[in-house]
Amino acid sequence: MLAEDMYREQILDYYRHPRNFGTLDAANARAADWNPVCGDKMEMFVAVANNRISDIKFMGSGCAISISSASLLTEAVKGKHIDEAIKLDNDAFISELGVTLSPVRRKCALLGLKVLKMALVNYLSTAP
Ligand code: FES
Repeated sequence: MLAEDMYREQILDYYRHPRNFGTLDAANARAADWNPVCGDKMEMFVAVANNRISDIKFMGSGCAISISSASLLTEAVKGKHIDEAIKLDNDAFISELGVTLSPVRRKCALLGLKVLKMALVNYLSTAP
């Protein structure tokens, strides 16, 4: 199996069985946004403790790329310092997905990251 096929399989698996999908009562940071290209929406619920992401969940309706990349993202950032999560680079995140994406598909893949950063910025602007 080629590496790109392997990543495609992983994307489909994360789409069919999204990890960290749902809401989070303990969330003290949240944000929602949509992909202007298709109108699909995503919401992130983040629990921040000691400036680290202690838990995270997301809700959304979207394509396989948006749901699976949001799902992968939630796994990747759990435990990370919020400064580190805010600085996550779009291109680096896309390359972690391991598949070649058109500009339209890039927007799908980056929706979760965009909403996560919005949630953390919201948190920082309201944190005591
Ligand atoms: Fe809507 Fe991908 S087509 S997020």
